[in-house]
Amino acid sequence: MSVIKVAILGFGTVGEGFYRTIQSHEEELKAVLGRKVEVAAVLIRNKQKERDINKEVIVTTDFTDILNLPQLDVVVEAIVDKDPTYSFLKKAIQRGCHIITANKEMFAHHGQELLELAKKHNVSVGYEATVAGGIPVIQTLRQLLNVNRVQQVQGILNGTSNFILTEMREKKLSFAEALRAAQENGFAEADPTNDVEGFDAFYKAMILSRLAFGEEPNWHDVERAGITSITSKLIDTAERLGLRFKHIAIIRKSGNQLTASVKPVLVGKEHPLYHVEGVQNAVNIYSDIVGQITLQGPGAGMFPTASAVIEDLVYVCQNRPVTQGLTPTKEINAGSQELIQQEETWLISSLLKNVNNYSINIIEHVEEGMFIVKAVKDEIENLFHQNGELLYYPILGDYDSESKLAKLAL
Ligand SMILES: NC(=O)c1ccc[n+]([C@@H]2O[C@H](COP(=O)([O-])OP(=O)(O)OC[C@H]3O[C@@H](n4cnc5c(N)ncnc54)[C@H](OP(=O)(O)O)[C@@H]3O)[C@@H](O)[C@H]2O)c1
Repeated sequence: MSVIKVAILGFGTVGEGFYRTIQSHEEELKAVLGRKVEVAAVLIRNKQKERDINKEVIVTTDFTDILNLPQLDVVVEAIVDKDPTYSFLKKAIQRGCHIITANKEMFAHHGQELLELAKKHNVSVGYEATVAGGIPVIQTLRQLLNVNRVQQVQGILNGTSNFILTEMREKKLSFAEALRAAQENGFAEADPTNDVEGFDAFYKAMILSRLAFGEEPNWHDVERAGITSITSKLIDTAERLGLRFKHIAIIRKSGNQLTASVKPVLVGKEHPLYHVEGVQNAVNIYSDIVGQITLQGPGAGMFPTASAVIEDLVYVCQNRPVTQGLTPTKEINAGSQELIQQEETWLISSLLKNVNNYSINIIEHVEEGMFIVKAVKDEIENLFHQNGELLYYPILGDYDSESKLAKLAL
């Protein structure tokens, strides 16, 4: 029986989880692929670290050792940072290897080039682990895209932010306390900027956009905000209104207009992402034939991510053609178009008491300095220009002011 030879770049949480899963699921892999999978080499940075790797596997700090292997079929990348990862994967493709990556930052920046190069060299690219960890959202979109027209994707894509918001609400913690809890539980890095400022979710959203819509919005036009503005008081008020703060990436296509935002929003009980708590991720896809699908599951962790990578291994070994996810360059470079704005419902929090003086449709005065208003985004932003202290969060879905007011009065 011939063998599939794999190299793993990086042997941290993801790389090691994948390595261990190849061993624990050897029989299943053999049954699906008809061939044995063998790890030929592992690339790491620090040779002194103790690692549980079989003696016959080459462990190296030099990528040339990987490229020079006599047989190499698949390169799995689980390193951090964009560089030198991108150049490693380019060389792997040029050598004729399928590639699999878990690295969303690198793939958001260079995925397009890698997909085009892979197409040229007739190899496949797996990137399931770049978005929402163990949830098979990439494969679901690849299948859905065949005939369905996706209209909107909404996702809780960062488990750290979701964990912090959940802890703040359930345990009445401040943002700083909830962040510390996330760090103590290993859900947040020592430097949490990428997670709490929305960069991580932004990269994932751009990868989803390319796959679901065949294009990305101009990155500068995407509204990106993290969760650092959310206070215990805001969470408390939202809770009393039957709403929850969630950090949600929204990518929407309306006519020819593609828009995206990655920011905290408010959702009510009827929204599919309302009950997604803790480190869980979820993605809600609206498309024209199937309607609405919600996928929920673990967004990170050793084995959930290994699950995504191992399923990608099967995918690439079946050598699927690279057709989806390729963005027409013309559309990436296209400037922003004039958007027709719809009126939305917002919770606004203002230190100024005289919000009534602004020309804005206030539908509810929730408490001192907090209002529910209906407005298009430009009106809210004008208000913000007049009052830099203003905080504003859209409420997704229907907001029933009458019944909420009745509840507040109780
Ligand atoms: N952790 C998750 O749950 C998760 C989920 C989805 C996606 N991801 C993504 O997967 C990637 C890996 O994450 P991780 O959590 O496994 O990271 P990690 O635990 O920090 O491990 C990173 C590994 O990469 C190696 N490495 C780093 N830079 C290198 C370089 N220049 N050359 C060779 N090796 C290098 C490190 O080597 P040493 O061991 O020698 O230091 C280490 O083994 C990241 O892009 C991450 O965003 C992670």
